[in-house]
Amino acid sequence: MRTGEKGIFVVMGISVLILIGVKYYQNSKNTEPDPGIPYFTTASKELTAEAARIMKDGKCHSCHSLWGTRDMLQAVPAPPLDGMGYFRDEEWLYKYFSAEVPQDILPTRLKPEYRQPSFSSMSEEDRRNLAKYIASLQVEDWYLEDTKKRRYEKLTGKDYIKTDE
Ligand code: HEC
Repeated sequence: MRTGEKGIFVVMGISVLILIGVKYYQNSKNTEPDPGIPYFTTASKELTAEAARIMKDGKCHSCHSLWGTRDMLQAVPAPPLDGMGYFRDEEWLYKYFSAEVPQDILPTRLKPEYRQPSFSSMSEEDRRNLAKYIASLQVEDWYLEDTKKRRYEKLTGKDYIKTDE
């Protein structure tokens, strides 16, 4: 191969690299902005603080995640509490926390040690505040379909098929 030919190949090679670079740069600029965290609460600061105390006492975090955190030592397949207010209202939650056997209200397929414990021995005020707080955990609309899917699959172990309710 003569020097002139080599030169052409080098120029072509560099041009291809530049084109790939430009394309890559354009693509990276065109990607959707990160939509952000889809969960929020409508609770007051006071209720949030009160709920944090109650949830610490009830060790909810050893089984459930909330705001993306839970105790990493545990691997209980409990549903995340984020967005729970979309699925359950305050009255339902109050009854659920007050039940001697929560599984009478929400059946389970899990081993006894993994199941939702009864909080019937908590003070009535704590159960009320807890229900109010959990009901205040909301989720942005765009994220709902995904949340439903995860929740369904976690609870049932089956694949979720979208329905139009
Ligand atoms: C030992 C693990 C464990 C602890 C501790 C626990 N949960 Fe649960 N929870 C579960 C599991 C598992 C379920 C799913 C139902 C079942 O299997 O009994 C559940 C279900 C629920 C549900 C209903 C979810 C739905 O789909 O409607 C709510 C609400 C809830 N828990 C809130 C709490 C709160 C609040 C606390 C703390 C005060 C708490 N849980 C403590 C394991 C736990």
